[in-house]
Amino acid sequence: MLEIRDVTRRFGRKVAVDGVTLSIREGQMVGIIGRSGAGKSTLLRMINRLIDPSQGSISFGGREVSAIAGATLRRWQRDCAMIFQQFNLVPRLDVVSNVLHGTLNRRSSLATVFNVFPQADIGQAIDILGRLGIADHAAKRVEALSGGQQQRVAIARALMQDPQVILADEPIASLDPMNAQVVMDTLRRIHDEDGRMIVCNLHTLDTARRYCDRVIGMRDGRVVFDGAPERLTTRAAREIYGADESFSETSTSTSIESLDISIDIARGPVPVPAL
Ligand SMILES: Nc1ncnc2c1ncn2[C@@H]1O[C@H](COP(=O)(O)OP(=O)(O)O)[C@@H](O)[C@H]1O
Ligand SMILES: [Mg+2]
Repeated sequence: MLEIRDVTRRFGRKVAVDGVTLSIREGQMVGIIGRSGAGKSTLLRMINRLIDPSQGSISFGGREVSAIAGATLRRWQRDCAMIFQQFNLVPRLDVVSNVLHGTLNRRSSLATVFNVFPQADIGQAIDILGRLGIADHAAKRVEALSGGQQQRVAIARALMQDPQVILADEPIASLDPMNAQVVMDTLRRIHDEDGRMIVCNLHTLDTARRYCDRVIGMRDGRVVFDGAPERLTTRAAREIYGADESFSETSTSTSIESLDISIDIARGPVPVPAL
């Protein structure tokens, strides 16, 4: 269980995350939605401790993670892998080496300097690539791959850490719809088959609906919706995205885009009750 208790993060006078309290059960696939600036990335980064909370506490499995340092912090960051919108791979390096970077924090610095990877790790990396359907590309440079393939390399690198939690910050925001679907299918499969907790920031409502067991809506640093995707009504979406009265199910995507959000309520797999 991941427990976030009254967590706040300030940047100067800006309150990016404002007193958020959440419990996430092991094995839940959670989507966090909200418009740009709502505090989604800041929340995820605090869980992984890329940044520290200004206030509040975060614990996993009963153990505090918001106030740890040194080896304990590195162990937590291994247990809690992060996937980014821009993949964060080394483009000129081959796929396998990129995946093996997921083992760096458990290897000696000397082995790292000489770029020597144990044979067992190489075998494991190839197995993971095979599982994600990209083993054929193992020897290629990452930069030769499509965006969807690169994101799967990033997922493979995360799996190499054998994490209990995978945090994904808008993992499909740079991908075309087909690649976006492959990447989301991959994350869902990892969740279903391995039982890993997945918390995924998503820009679009329909993706959250389609893939997540639970959707958390953020607005201005606060949680304004928390529930099953079926409960994401037009009214709830309006609360999350702050759309004005002209917002309705019949809104065209153009009018929704003009609100700087991209949601398509009509296409969601779950029927949306009328207002
Ligand atoms: N490093 C930072 N320095 C100053 N302000 C920041 C920083 N990171 C985020 N913010 C601000 O915090 C708010 C939330 O940002 P963020 O968590 O990135 O939102 P989201 O991921 O939902 O788009 C925004 O107003 C953003 O400008
Ligand atoms: Mg963000």
